[in-house]
Amino acid sequence: MALLFCALLSIAPACYHMEVEILGNVKSFKQQGGLLTIKTIKAEARVCVYSPTIIRVNISRRHSAPDSSYAVIQQPIGKFEFDESADAIEINTPALKLSINKSPLRFNFSTADGKPLSEDDSRFGTNWQGERVITYRKLYADEKFIGLGEKAGNLNRRGTSYVNWNTDAVDYNNKSDPLYKTFPFFIGLHSGLTYGLFLDNTHKSYFDFGATTDDEMSWFGADGGDMNYYFFGAQGVAKIIEDYTWLTGRMEMPPLWSLGYQQCRWSYMSAKEVLKIAKTFRKKKIPADVMYCDIDYMEGFKIFTWNKKTFANPWAIMNELKAMGFHLVTIVDPGIKIEDGYKQYDEGVANDYFAKYPDGENYTGYVWPGRCHFPDFFRDDVREWWGAAFTALTDVGVDGFWNDMNEPAAWGQNIPWMVKFGDKYMPEVRNAYGMQMARATYEGTRKILNNKRPFVLTRAAYAGTQRYSAVWTGDNTGTDEHMLLGQRLVNSLGITGISFTGVDIGGFSANPTPELMVRWNSLGVYTPMFRNHAIQGSKMREPWEWGDVNEQLIKKDIEQRYKLLPYIYSAFHQSTQTGLPISRTLAIEYSFDEKVYFERFQNQFMFGDALLVAPVESDKLTIDVYLPKGDWYRLSTGEKLKGGKIVNVASPLTDLPVFVKAGAIIPMQSVTQSTAAKGDGILLLHIWNGKKTSEFLYYEDDGLSYNYEQGAYYKRTIRFDPKKKSVTLSAVEGTFFSRFDKLSIVWHGFERGVNDKVVDFVKEEMMIGFV
Ligand code: GLC
Repeated sequence: MALLFCALLSIAPACYHMEVEILGNVKSFKQQGGLLTIKTIKAEARVCVYSPTIIRVNISRRHSAPDSSYAVIQQPIGKFEFDESADAIEINTPALKLSINKSPLRFNFSTADGKPLSEDDSRFGTNWQGERVITYRKLYADEKFIGLGEKAGNLNRRGTSYVNWNTDAVDYNNKSDPLYKTFPFFIGLHSGLTYGLFLDNTHKSYFDFGATTDDEMSWFGADGGDMNYYFFGAQGVAKIIEDYTWLTGRMEMPPLWSLGYQQCRWSYMSAKEVLKIAKTFRKKKIPADVMYCDIDYMEGFKIFTWNKKTFANPWAIMNELKAMGFHLVTIVDPGIKIEDGYKQYDEGVANDYFAKYPDGENYTGYVWPGRCHFPDFFRDDVREWWGAAFTALTDVGVDGFWNDMNEPAAWGQNIPWMVKFGDKYMPEVRNAYGMQMARATYEGTRKILNNKRPFVLTRAAYAGTQRYSAVWTGDNTGTDEHMLLGQRLVNSLGITGISFTGVDIGGFSANPTPELMVRWNSLGVYTPMFRNHAIQGSKMREPWEWGDVNEQLIKKDIEQRYKLLPYIYSAFHQSTQTGLPISRTLAIEYSFDEKVYFERFQNQFMFGDALLVAPVESDKLTIDVYLPKGDWYRLSTGEKLKGGKIVNVASPLTDLPVFVKAGAIIPMQSVTQSTAAKGDGILLLHIWNGKKTSEFLYYEDDGLSYNYEQGAYYKRTIRFDPKKKSVTLSAVEGTFFSRFDKLSIVWHGFERGVNDKVVDFVKEEMMIGFV
């Protein structure tokens, strides 16, 4: 009856059932500056070009002004050429063609020479149901999808669907969705072609990669806002990542110490305990750089306070830690305790800094401290206030800041939708809250620390968060399944521009077996952030808690991490320049190799340019590994293996399967107990023989300051040329002096002994020959 009534009056949108409102035909269009505006009866589409490989489409029934984004940091180019015919408008860049079909309005992307990349579903295209806007796309028979960042499930996301809604995903598993973060960016691969799509919309969003449409369509959309997407047409996954991180920004150089081993726990309950753990590392000569304070260092969980009994003199503990070469990272949560006389509460209330109900009352939710208000990090003045408060920690000497519970989490996990942040309601901005908190922390601490790099870590995030912070994958569990899932999360985060990532090694909840602890720690060596963390009440997790034999294994692996730091630091530099992650799913380099997507091989990844790591459960002592085309060596034994096939290899707990690509150049160093330690001054340049010429960009700086932005770095291209039988190091670029004064080449896979003398590590071009 209601339906009939609506149909008669043609007032479907006002009716209580949800009509599908279709986009309609083009009525008019015009170009003004760099913006092509296309009108239909229902909506307006705006198209602009950001680069030859990036085109933005924004379709809306009511464009809201001003146009803003938390993620995008670039501007479109100005005016661009387009052609018009009776049926279509066509935009051609040197790399990309967008055909805009007029009746009905549809957007079809292809390569410059006309090979289809991604097309609207010809029947449905973009349409609305209530405020929800969805775009339906043609699904190609062989199409695969990778990306969306921190999402459980398989590497190839074909046949599944996902929701973005930042959530405190306690006890998540391999089927859980959503998790903590939102990255509405994916890469599609079909017919030997690649494309990327970023839906820049912070509302709850949806991605369906042909889950339930008889293999006809994929679709994406959001609960509100515009159909606002950036289309990437570069060929090659790495190039699309480069373009996406050009658009949304790249990480900056992290402090070197944050790449060392990090020891965390919820919580070391007193300054005494933190120091005891730190001293044990030094006594046992297990390298480490970072200790953490979880929530119990505070007075009643009040942010920016120190517990008066257990952390009575934080200056003293910091001094002792510093003397041992440790840095301290402290946790901060957004929930501000409601308590008169507590500085942050009083100031927040006095200045109206908190999220509100629509009647103007501050929203209250429960978190660790009890009843709390939540800072409105979307406001500039609130972010400045928050950032400035870090002096409570930095004055003492803390330079790492762990942003937690910022989905935002509150007990019950259901903050009412009418809660307002600035002029926006929670559903519109929830997915960006954690990012804005991380931004406030980063901007504030960067300012306070003057020229020193802060280390910022966050649990919740939105696209672009790489500009402010590292991330970890939240509260995982101490099982083999979680270790492998964690690796996929890290690899997938890397596709979405987030390079500095880690998981709780050992698993946050549940107690891992000693075997799993050893195995996971081995994998941690090859994880951008190497942090051991555990839940309150679990067994102690430090390296010496697992028996003498396992302690030695764990120590050996941590030592391996320290040896690899010159290579790892250069990989981070590469990421600051290109956006390429440190941990790379094989789908980045071997995108059209089917085996890479097989369930049993999908956890494998490249760590930097040279190392292929095959994660393996703790109880499997042999494993099938897929080595892509080319020649490989087992890192531990030097054994040479032919690629392009599956090999069965030993995987004892003492030896995680790690392989070196032929031709690899891997700078290493001798073990030090922390990144602050001087070391022996010898750079060990490992050259792994190969048939082809290869290059490695070696990078160093002081590891602590922003002086590298003014040219205080040390860069040189190292080139291995098997035909000329030489290794050359280009003359040094930059004003920084290397911490190494000697160079030793370590040759692998060469038939005859070659020059392996230690030589001076001079600034000028160096050439070392071999026979
Ligand atoms: C959250 C965090 C976890 C932390 C705990 C206590 O569960 O994810 O890492 O230890 O809160 O602060």
